[in-house]
Amino acid sequence: MRLEFLENGPIRLEGKGFRLRIGDREEVLERPRVFLCRCGGSANKPFCDGAHKRLGFQAEGGVLEVEEA
Ligand code: FES
Repeated sequence: MRLEFLENGPIRLEGKGFRLRIGDREEVLERPRVFLCRCGGSANKPFCDGAHKRLGFQAEGGVLEVEEA
């Protein structure tokens, strides 16, 4: 799995699909990528809703590649 930290923006996760579990909420996301908020300002957490632009969020970009052991 690959996580990309977009400069001044969210975390982009790429994969074949995702299973989201938060509290009692469970959802299968059948899409190749999701964008996760890292600015804390999204009204649709854990997903990015674009609020980082309005808030002027600033952070470096980067990549984390996760390999299964
Ligand atoms: S990173 Fe986009 S709304 Fe937080």
